[in-house]
Amino acid sequence: MNFQYSEDHIAIRDAAREFAEHEIAPSAVERDKTGEFPTEIVQKLGELGFMGMMTAPEWGGAGLDAVSYVLALEEIAKVDASVAVIMSVNNSLVCWVIETFGTNEQKERFLRPLATGQKLGAYCLSEPGIGSDATQQATTATLQSDGSYLMNGAKNWITNGTTADHYIVFAQTDPAKKHHGITCFILDKGMPGFEIGLKEDKLGIRSSDTCSLGFTDVRIPPDRVIGTDGQGFKIAMETLNGGRIGIAAQALGIASGAMDKSIRYSFERRAFGKPINQLQAIQFKLADMQVKVEAARMLILRAARTKDAGQNYIKEAAMAKLYASSIAMEVATQAIQVHGGYGYVREYLVERALRDAKITEIYEGTSEIQHIVIARQLMKEYELRN
Ligand code: CAA
Repeated sequence: MNFQYSEDHIAIRDAAREFAEHEIAPSAVERDKTGEFPTEIVQKLGELGFMGMMTAPEWGGAGLDAVSYVLALEEIAKVDASVAVIMSVNNSLVCWVIETFGTNEQKERFLRPLATGQKLGAYCLSEPGIGSDATQQATTATLQSDGSYLMNGAKNWITNGTTADHYIVFAQTDPAKKHHGITCFILDKGMPGFEIGLKEDKLGIRSSDTCSLGFTDVRIPPDRVIGTDGQGFKIAMETLNGGRIGIAAQALGIASGAMDKSIRYSFERRAFGKPINQLQAIQFKLADMQVKVEAARMLILRAARTKDAGQNYIKEAAMAKLYASSIAMEVATQAIQVHGGYGYVREYLVERALRDAKITEIYEGTSEIQHIVIARQLMKEYELRN
């Protein structure tokens, strides 16, 4: 597979890097402390076309490929993983769903403002008692005689939960059909009976906004069904396939950011009469970290290119997320070790990388779920060949 970037890819990566360094980095430490949502930054990302990167220009998006998307996300995550997840959810889990499964009327009404960054979206699949076992949706949406649905239940761990304008929500419309009776809806903040919980106090990605949601007899008109009644679980899974490439790129950005800081520090810090980058113990660590970062980048680019080629990328996306999230934890841990005691305090920034990295092994499918997805695809591929 050819991993050469085009001139456009390089221009997008550089634009994202420039924006991250000048517009995001200055407030990242403070927002990590306070948990403040980066409202202005998200607005500017929208103006730059980063909130609907892969959405067609016809619907207000930038019309770029998945490779451009992962290059931009890595640059943003290098500086602030909180901003990266806000961007990733809006792009992969919200705009993509509406563009792929929505009607033209829904695209005009919801996708255009989301892709241009005027509105923000959230994706609501997990529930208080249901995370990995996503077929067991307990939230219900019961069809009424006038064609509308009444939604009842709760969702948990919703990224952009308090700040979003529109919410992609999955609910059981026909429990007898199990996961074939799940339907996808789009809701607005402020609908009667739709309650937004308090922002969670998290270990990492602290300035992103995560909360639970409650639904008590929320009346949903039929024009808010995305796709068809009963198609929801398939929509949820196909959406997460693409989302996982984004989270992999976020994990890579966390790792490569920690790597950059470690190299810089290794020039500054002296021990045993020389800069520590002349000590073999540190050199070996840096070399191992770099191999992992580059291997993750290859897996992510492969997944993105497979998606761009219109081929099945389920396994490639899961492998990229599984590996990138795991090495983000390892590289962040080693970055702290390279920094010694300074790595353990906030000022040197690498402790944030470790706190931010952990969630990439959990959301959009835990590492355990990625193993299941990869193994099942392997069996399918074997059966197809034999
Ligand atoms: N792509 C497309 N379809 C898929 C799929 C995939 N990756 N994985 C499963 N499916 C389909 C199957 O083909 C099957 O379809 P049919 O019944 O029509 O044949 C259907 O889904 C059910 O699949 P299984 O029979 O394999 O069901 P299972 O219960 O054994 O496994 C699962 C399902 C793979 C574990 C699934 O529940 C899953 O992916 N769980 C993880 C959920 C998850 O990732 N949650 C993240 C929440 S969102 C989030 O984190 C966003 C955020 O805020 C950042």
